[in-house]
Amino acid sequence: MISGIGIDVVEIQRVNEMIQRYGNRFIKKIFTESEIEYALSKASSPHHFAGRFAVKEAVSKAISTGWSGGFRWKDVEVTNDDSGKPSVQLHGHVKELLQGSTVFVSISHSENVIAAVAIIEKRI
Ligand SMILES: CC(C)(COP(=O)(O)OP(=O)(O)OC[C@H]1O[C@@H](n2cnc3c(N)ncnc32)[C@H](O)[C@@H]1OP(=O)(O)O)[C@@H](O)C(=O)NCCC(=O)NCCS
Repeated sequence: MISGIGIDVVEIQRVNEMIQRYGNRFIKKIFTESEIEYALSKASSPHHFAGRFAVKEAVSKAISTGWSGGFRWKDVEVTNDDSGKPSVQLHGHVKELLQGSTVFVSISHSENVIAAVAIIEKRI
């Protein structure tokens, strides 16, 4: 059954400002090594950083306790298969909390804004 849904919209400008203000400190706090590698491999890295940021926020909403449960940004890691389809690998507290569930995510890019949706399916 569906046990949670979350959505988030991120303005590219906001992510660019954070990267400019805090640089590597911001990037390394929020994103895993593979997420950083993926975003930096693309022509428009801020779009891909923003997409991953939006997924993390969307998953936190789908969990409904948000980030208040001692979760870390890097506990939700976005990976892409060969077709480009995104999925999430869970770590730490989020993985424990979502034991027995599957998380589905989708990302959409436009020039200035990124949106992400997350759906949690609980196996019964
Ligand atoms: C899936 C598809 C409709 C996405 O269209 P798009 O206009 O590039 O999508 P948007 O710009 O709105 O969003 C980009 C996001 O779509 C997602 N996406 C890309 N390919 C996807 C796929 N096959 N299935 C689901 N989501 C996909 C990614 O999360 C991507 O963001 P990210 O790279 O930061 O993770 C289009 O790429 C397509 O038809 N692909 C068919 C498969 C294909 O040709 N793959 C090429 C590599 S083999």
